Amino acid sequence: MNKGLLIVFEGIDGTGKSTQMSLLAIALKKEGFEVIETREPTGGKFGQQIRGLYTNRHGVTPEQELELFLADRQEHVDQVLTPGLQAGKIILCDRYFLSTAAYQGAVGFSPAEIIAKNSFAPLPDLALLFCIPPKIGIERITAGRGDTLNDFEQEATLQKVAAIFDGLRLPYIQRIDASGSIDSIHQLVLEAVTPLLRHMNHNE
Ligand code: ADP
Ligand code: TYD
Repeated sequence: MNKGLLIVFEGIDGTGKSTQMSLLAIALKKEGFEVIETREPTGGKFGQQIRGLYTNRHGVTPEQELELFLADRQEHVDQVLTPGLQAGKIILCDRYFLSTAAYQGAVGFSPAEIIAKNSFAPLPDLALLFCIPPKIGIERITAGRGDTLNDFEQEATLQKVAAIFDGLRLPYIQRIDASGSIDSIHQLVLEAVTPLLRHMNHNE
């Protein structure tokens, strides 16, 4: 049985997932918890191939794209997530299989079938699903972060991705209204996470 906790951060691009994951990691470490911060796509060999697709998504078929995300996840589960959970760590993961359901679902696969293909991956204890209208996410990416939009971040695609995220109903999902200030969202994240910490060991 796993002793650790797996908390994943999900939502369209620009919702503030990475910002909130860092703030939660700082807060948990301050309380003496052992935290692993990780993300998908990973920095491994499949993750690097995926990053190559950001500027040319049509370089592979949708089937090959889905297989790459699954291969990256399998490696991540084997090398990071399962060992971390067995060691009793709190793992914070920026994107996980609900992103595959939503993003690869948006190109035509069935979200339920994608989730079924992820049965090798441990279920998250909590999936924080950050919700904002795609327009605001795009504004945060372009104006706030100063980035240009990659092939996964075009508005029409993000509308479809957001609609799939909206439709997901799973017991471990908690939706977070990500339209407020960074501080106010951090409070919502803490409220969602605190009940899970009661049974976790930490150094005083
Ligand atoms: P994501 O990981 O979901 O793509 P980021 O955390 O990278 O999102 O945030 C995208 C941009 O928006 C960054 O420039 C970040 O500083 C900014 N940002 C994050 N949260 C908020 C917020 N609540 N309000 C306004 N801007 C935000
Ligand atoms: P992102 O979190 O934006 O990472 P980066 O900091 O490298 O830009 O994720 C990269 C993109 O990959 C994002 O647009 C969503 C997409 N993605 C999928 O399409 N399927 C998946 O399974 C995952 C994990 C991500």
